[in-house]
Amino acid sequence: RGKRAFIAGVADDNGYGWAIAKSLAAAGAEILVGTWVPALNIFETSLRRGKFDESTKLPDGSLMEITKVYPLDAVFDSPEDVPDDVKANKRYAGSSNWTVKEVAETVKNDFGTIDILVHSLANGPEVKNSLLETSRKGYLAAVSASSYSFISLLQHFLPIMNPGGATISLTYIASERTIPGYGGGMSSAKAALESDTRVLAYEAGRKGKIRVNTISAGPLGSRAAKAIGFIEKMIEYSYVNAPLQKELLADEVGNTAAFLASPLASAITGSTIYVDNGLNTMGLAL
Ligand code: NAI
Repeated sequence: RGKRAFIAGVADDNGYGWAIAKSLAAAGAEILVGTWVPALNIFETSLRRGKFDESTKLPDGSLMEITKVYPLDAVFDSPEDVPDDVKANKRYAGSSNWTVKEVAETVKNDFGTIDILVHSLANGPEVKNSLLETSRKGYLAAVSASSYSFISLLQHFLPIMNPGGATISLTYIASERTIPGYGGGMSSAKAALESDTRVLAYEAGRKGKIRVNTISAGPLGSRAAKAIGFIEKMIEYSYVNAPLQKELLADEVGNTAAFLASPLASAITGSTIYVDNGLNTMGLAL
């Protein structure tokens, strides 16, 4: 039987989530995605109208199929957590069962189990503020959307994950080295995500024989990264200073995710794996 993957955080064909979906599909996995509720409509419309057709092509010439798109808002664990203004919001009112708990239940009803869980989402409303100028609310929102969201997904999906399964999230080196501009508590959120990767690897390993790893990816001009504002500079900096002076392709991160999710990586868990053309190893680049 082929493996089944749930990838949270796909809303267009530019980000790491899409590339991971493609690499997993190319390796034979069935693809389910979780799409942020406010982005659902345009994503589904674009899919239907064939806007992504060119980028669904797999290396063997076949096309990636997304078996089902689930609306998801990973900052809410269950319906009781949803405030009235969000409930009343038109975009949210038009979908249902999009809290983490409900999505896991729906996937269980639809398919029974999954093998691979991917967390490819982040949000920091004050990302443009330096940490020193970040509000408590903004900081907690960044951690809620970017770090706790992974704990919540694993908490709710672990019971339906087949033993031997794997989870992958995406992190960024701003967690361990200062990257001016990656503000709003996003650096803190990534540090939490990496620490949680180690602790959850232990807990999910013991509880369900599930591996937990995170990919520390180099810069990519995704929708989320463009919202931060200096992504072109980061890409250029990486190109100039990394050991490998080449463009970093989203597919290279996708392929690493496929490796980490596969039995080839059966002894790797609790790790932060760099996919960044080696930039993280540099002190001074000449
Ligand atoms: P992206 O825009 O393709 O993905 C982020 C996704 O998160 C979007 O689809 C967005 O709709 C979704 N999202 C935001 N809040 C959500 C919520 N509350 N519930 C559910 N979904 C929500 O951008 P990208 O850059 O591919 O991001 C994927 C992951 O890669 C993120 O964790 C990001 O921090 C990480 N990353 C990105 C790098 C980059 O340079 N683009 C570098 C290193 C890590």
